[in-house]
Formats: sequence, C-alpha cells, structure tokens
Amino acid sequence: MSARTDSESQSKDYRQEDEVEIFFQIAAAMAAALLLPWVYAILERANFHDFKFDGLHRSRALWLVPLFYLVGAVGTVLLFPAHLQLFWAFHVLLLAQIAEVLLHQAGYLTTVSLPLSEQFTPLRAGGFVVVLGSAVYAAQRLRSWDTERELRRIIDDGNYVLPFQGLSAASDRMSLSRFVPLRKDRSILVLGETGAGKTETIKLFTHQMQAGTDDPFVVFDYKGEYQESFEHENLIHLSSTDATEYWNLFAEIEREADIDEIGRALFPHTDGSEFFSQAGRQLFVAVVTYLHREAQAADTTPTNADLVAFVQSTDKQEMHERLTDHSDLTAAASAIDPDSERQAAGVYANFQQVIADLFRGDFAEAGEFSIREYMDDPQGRTLLLDFPITEGDAVQPAFRFFIDWAARFALANEQDTYFVLDEFARLPGLRKMGDLINAGRGRNTQLLLGVQSVAQLHDTYGKDRANALLSGLVQSVIMRVGDAASVEYTQSQIGREKQRRSVPVHDRNGRSVGRQELQDETHPIVESDLERLDDGEAVVVVPDGWLRGLIARFETVQTELERALKRRTE
Ligand SMILES: Nc1ncnc2c1ncn2[C@@H]1O[C@H](COP(=O)(O)OP(=O)(O)O)[C@@H](O)[C@H]1O
Ligand SMILES: [Mg+2]
Repeated sequence: MSARTDSESQSKDYRQEDEVEIFFQIAAAMAAALLLPWVYAILERANFHDFKFDGLHRSRALWLVPLFYLVGAVGTVLLFPAHLQLFWAFHVLLLAQIAEVLLHQAGYLTTVSLPLSEQFTPLRAGGFVVVLGSAVYAAQRLRSWDTERELRRIIDDGNYVLPFQGLSAASDRMSLSRFVPLRKDRSILVLGETGAGKTETIKLFTHQMQAGTDDPFVVFDYKGEYQESFEHENLIHLSSTDATEYWNLFAEIEREADIDEIGRALFPHTDGSEFFSQAGRQLFVAVVTYLHREAQAADTTPTNADLVAFVQSTDKQEMHERLTDHSDLTAAASAIDPDSERQAAGVYANFQQVIADLFRGDFAEAGEFSIREYMDDPQGRTLLLDFPITEGDAVQPAFRFFIDWAARFALANEQDTYFVLDEFARLPGLRKMGDLINAGRGRNTQLLLGVQSVAQLHDTYGKDRANALLSGLVQSVIMRVGDAASVEYTQSQIGREKQRRSVPVHDRNGRSVGRQELQDETHPIVESDLERLDDGEAVVVVPDGWLRGLIARFETVQTELERALKRRTE
C-alpha cells in the first residue's frame, strides 16, 4: 500500500489507549524526577550568586534524588509491560534513570543537569554521548531479551505464538498483547488474497512446529516459496521436477487391498465428467494389481518407470489378454475389451494418455520413495510437496494423492504429524481434508491451512462442503480479502458489537428537549476494512475473541524466536 496509509496506520491505528495512558503517567513522573536535579542545581547556583535559599538543604536534596530515581526504576520494572507496544520506551526510560543515577554518583551532576554551557568540556560531552549510546544499545538488548522471554512464556504454555509488530485498538475479549497465543490442538486457517502476507505468516508457524520435532512434517507448496526456508539436508523435495527422491507408487502397496484405495485417492470421484472417475480408475487398479502380482512372483518391486513402460508398450489387445489371465481383473478389463470395439479404443488411448501425463518427469523414474515409509519413519526430514505450476493440472492427482495418503497414515497412527498446506484450495477433490481439520490433538495431527479466499474454497469444494470445512477451523488469521464470501465469513467469525449513540431529541416545534441513547449492532470490521488491510496486517480470530494488528515479519523476530524455541527443546 502507499506510504501515506502506512504511516497513518502506524500512528493512528496502532494505538492502545490504556497502555498509552499508563505510559504518559509514568513518563510524567519520570520527567518530574529528571527536573528535580535541575531545580536543585539552579537553586544551588542561585546560592552561589548570593541568593540564599535556606529551605532546600544540599544534603537532603542529594539524598532525595537517588531515592526518587530508585522508586521510579522499581515502578518501571513492576509495570514492565513486556507485551505492550510501547514497552521499549519503558526500557529507555529505565536505563535513562540508571544512567542518570550513575552520572550523579560520578559527579557529573552539573554537566548533565545544566544546559551544556559553563562546564562544557569535550571529555564531559563525550562521556555523556557514550553513556547515552550505551543506554540506547542496552535498551535494544533489553527489548530483545524481553521479546524472547515473552515468546518463551507462550511457547512453554504449549501454544504457538503469533508475534505482532503493532496492534490496533479494535479487538474483542482479548488482552492487547503483542504476542498472541494460538492453540496447538486445533487447526489454523490463514486466509488472504495473493500478496496479503499468508506465506510470511505461515513461516512464523512452521518454524515453531518444526522446532525439535522428528515427526512427519508435510508441506504443500504451490509456488515454490518454502523451499529456501527449510534446511536442505533435511528436506525431501517431492515433485515432477528437481525431486530429491523419486516416488514409487508400488512401494505404497502393503496389501493388495491398498491398490484399490490408492486408485481412489489418485482418481477420486468428482462431479465432473472426468473419464478417470470410473472405468479408468478400475483399469488403473487392474494394471497396477497385475504388475504387483507379477513382481511378487519374481520377488521384486516394480517402479513407476516399469508402469509407464508397460502401459506405453502394451497395446489394447495384449493388455486385455494379460489382465483377463486373472479372473478378478476381467471386470476391469472389459472396458478395453477388443470385442466390444465401439468404446474400447477411446478408453485405452485415454488411459495411456492419463498415465503419460501423470507419471511424467521425476514421477516416471525408477524410484524407491514412498509416503508410507516416510510417515512411518521420517528421520527428522520435512516432506515438501512442491507443485510445479508449469506442468499444469496433469500432475494434480499425484499431489492430491500424496496429501490424502499421508493423511491416511497420520489419522491412523499415534505419532504427531504436521501438515502445512498453503494454497490447498487449488487442489480439487482432497478427500481427507475434513478429517484432518477436525482431527486436532485427539489424533495428534496439526494442520495449518493457507487459503486465498472463501470464494475459491466454494468453487473447489462446493458451498456446503467448504462451509463444513470452515466450521472446523476455529483459529484463523484473516488477512486482506476482497470477495464477498470471505468478508461474510470473517464477519460471522467476529460477530457483532453493540454501539451506543446519543441523538438529540426535538419536540414538535423543533426545539431540543434532550438527548436519547440508542443502541446499534454493527460489524466491528467492515468490508472496506478487510479490503484495505496492508501487507502483513491481519485479524486474528480465536475462540476467546479477536484482535487486529500488523504481524511481525519473520526476520524481525527470528533470533528471539529461535532462542525461545531452543530453550524449550533443550
Ligand atoms: N508482516 C508483514 N509485514 C510487512 N510486509 C509483509 C508482511 N508479510 C508479508 N509482507 C509482504 O507482503 C508481500 C506478500 O507476502 P506473501 O507472504 O508472499 O503473501 P501471500 O502468500 O499471501 O501471497 C511480500 O512482499 C511481503 O514482503
Ligand atoms: Mg503465498
């Protein structure tokens, strides 16, 4: 957004009435404290110049000054508002006080207290600059330490923490804390149009999810944005290009019954007229079953390369013959029965095409990697499902399969599993999404979803199913959105707020006879607010309430976050 709205929102919007008030009260007290030595010094000087002020005795005043500062310092520490937006100011103030006391002790009273006129020497001025610089530096260190402490407190309570850079006064039933805790046992939704800051926000969470975990960690990435944010040695990059491990469909099979399930996951039944929803899927299952049996007889495991080669080199007639060798595959083979000529040619050509499209690039290699083994023993590695946009929709079934198949194991086993699915609504037909969303801690599964808009979710999953999915997502970070469905969703999450208005009341002659209190119910956040959110600005909705603010960028809190997480895992 423009610089103007930026600075406006910083100065006007990110304001916290209560804390600002406290701050100014303390600041006023401190300013008074700072003035005291000045007054004292001026009076002292007056004494020197023969104006006798008997009331203010030197020794008594000297005794008072440090005491005043001590009280101020203790007050600041007690009110140490780590979570407040202005808390750095307190540190500066505190350190300024300490520095002042030190200066007094060192006999700098007059130099610092009086305007730099009479006693001005380079040494004293230099000393002052050094002390001031040190105070600022120390304040920064203190701020960082304080941030870390606050992050650790929330993390140690078993939450994820979403750090904010600034908060807006608009919120409900939530303390205005710079660090917002989100529960680990419920799924999290990050909603926002492209460029709103979803990925940046998700990175804040993934970092915390990953800390010290050796559990399965599955990331779906639509734009290749996550690759650099994970350590390379611990990353499995699964894709049709630049893969670090080659996927093997046959390694997913434990029992023959699995093949049926794999077929359903790869080619789910969709409303569309996709050929593969019916006959094609049966044929696929039959072909895979055939290869699986042949290989088992020879005590080997086929690879995707074998599947592709087999399908491409076998003509319809031969395929039909081979499949009908197995009596239980004849039903599936009937789709390509050469004797029922009409349909079979088209079906088989189509089948070959789908196989060629799907098993392309690195998916057509003779690999060994399987989701099954990864979920069983991830060895501390992250599984990055990197959707190659350039390949178009042809590889969609594979990615859909990876997620659904991983979810199958996640929901079945006791192990903690993490799913981070950014832009997941671009994948139509994910079957396990509802189960994953509602799994939560009961099933040891943590899910973080990134979605562009509720409208997109409606398009991909249908209104009813999409709304059912959304209703399971009780923690959301809502960033800039523009579509009506997203606005409506946000408002339903936030609820209404009562607003009192006082209007003048007039009698019949138009004379004012007083005022009347009216109560309205309004949406505290309206469409234009949501449309105009800056990059990184969000409304966080949790079961306890909601809060609006500018999320801290990952880099700005990375050091503190890492330290807080390290302490936790040690
Ligand atoms: N917390 C933030 N503060 C300021 N700018 C941000 C913040 N988060 C993201 N941005 C900026 O917004 C832009 C889009 O961020 P990104 O996370 O890629 O959005 P999305 O994933 O929603 O498309 C980037 O240029 C990024 O620098
Ligand atoms: Mg993104």
